Order: sequence, then structure tokens, then C-alpha cells
Amino acid sequence: MKDIKLHDKTFELFISDKEIEQIVKNVADEINNNGIEKPLFIAILNGSFLFAADVMRNITIPDSEISFIKLASYQGTESTGQVNELISLNQELKGRNVIILEDIIDTGNTLEKILEIFRTKEVASLKISTLLYKPDAYKKDIPIDYIGKSIENKFVVGYGLDYDEIGRNLPHIYKLKNQ
Ligand code: IMP
Ligand code: MG
Repeated sequence: MKDIKLHDKTFELFISDKEIEQIVKNVADEINNNGIEKPLFIAILNGSFLFAADVMRNITIPDSEISFIKLASYQGTESTGQVNELISLNQELKGRNVIILEDIIDTGNTLEKILEIFRTKEVASLKISTLLYKPDAYKKDIPIDYIGKSIENKFVVGYGLDYDEIGRNLPHIYKLKNQ
């Protein structure tokens, strides 16, 4: 398989589309078998759009719903980053069984912000699922309920994940070469 170039960097194949398909099925099966009633899936845009679509295709729980929020980190004049909600939810969350769909959990900063957003919403339950997880980079104590695949602490692109906004369309996942 040939390497690919995005902007100034070279990437090599890491997780094939076939393997991704299996990982996604496994996550969906775990959720299907967890006895969650009428779940409301919430995908975090942009990165999770393909993962969310493929998970949903494999969900068999009756009355499942999906919605989307868009988060973007804004770096202010301080070194502490701020995560802004660019598209907000408009449905009632009170009493809902919410399942978050994330593309990748790295430091856990974004996950922490997501929990902050949901803290005041009086949801009945909140579960976290992610396609990829970097255990060596994770700095939080928040438990992650469904993990597709744990990976080494390398930068990856494809299947929704971007490098400076490009590479999201790639069907396979690639990792940065020589990192
Ligand atoms: P966090 O460090 O867990 O807050 O991750 C923040 C966000 O950075 C994730 O939701 C992704 O959008 C992005 N991100 C983290 N690691 C990678 C990567 O390896 N490739 C592409 N995006 C990443
Ligand atoms: Mg993301």
C-alpha cells in the first residue's frame, strides 16, 4: 500500500477499511447488548461523522435516535484552550439515555468539555463511545464505556479524522510516518 501525502506530511497505512468495519460492528454489538432503552446517540462533529453513520447502521435497538453537536477548540490569548459549541442541541435531554460518539480520545480535554455541557441537562444516563483511544496520551479519570481500538500515541488521519481539515474522506486510517 502506497504512502499518502497531506499538506507537508507523509502517512502510512495503519487500520484498513476492513478492520475499521469490524471495529465499528464490535462497538455497535456492545451497545446493542447493553440493555439501553431508546438511546439518543450524539455524534461530535466534525471528526465522528463517518463513525457515527456506520455505528448507526449496525444499531438494532428500537426507537434509537441520533443528533449532532459541533465543537471547536478556540485558543485565546491565554495558553488554556477553550472548546466552543458551534452547533447546539435543540431537543430535550432530560431523562434521555445519551450515548456520545467520538472519533478519537487523546488527552481527554474535549471529553471533559462534553461532560460539562451535559452536566446540567438531567440526562438519565450518559455513555461514551469512541472509535480510537490513545491510552498513553489520556490525562483524565473519566471512564470510557465503549472503545473501538486503543492505539499508540501517534497522529492518525482518515475515516473522518483530519490533518488541518484534509484527509477525512480516506476510507482507511493512516498514521504519521517516522513520528
Ligand atoms: P483530546 O486531546 O482528547 O481533547 O482530543 C481532541 C481532538 O483532537 C479529538 O476529538 C480529535 O478531533 C483531535 N485529535 C486527537 N488526536 C488526533 C489524531 O491523531 N488525528 C486527528 N485528530 C486528532
Ligand atoms: Mg474530534
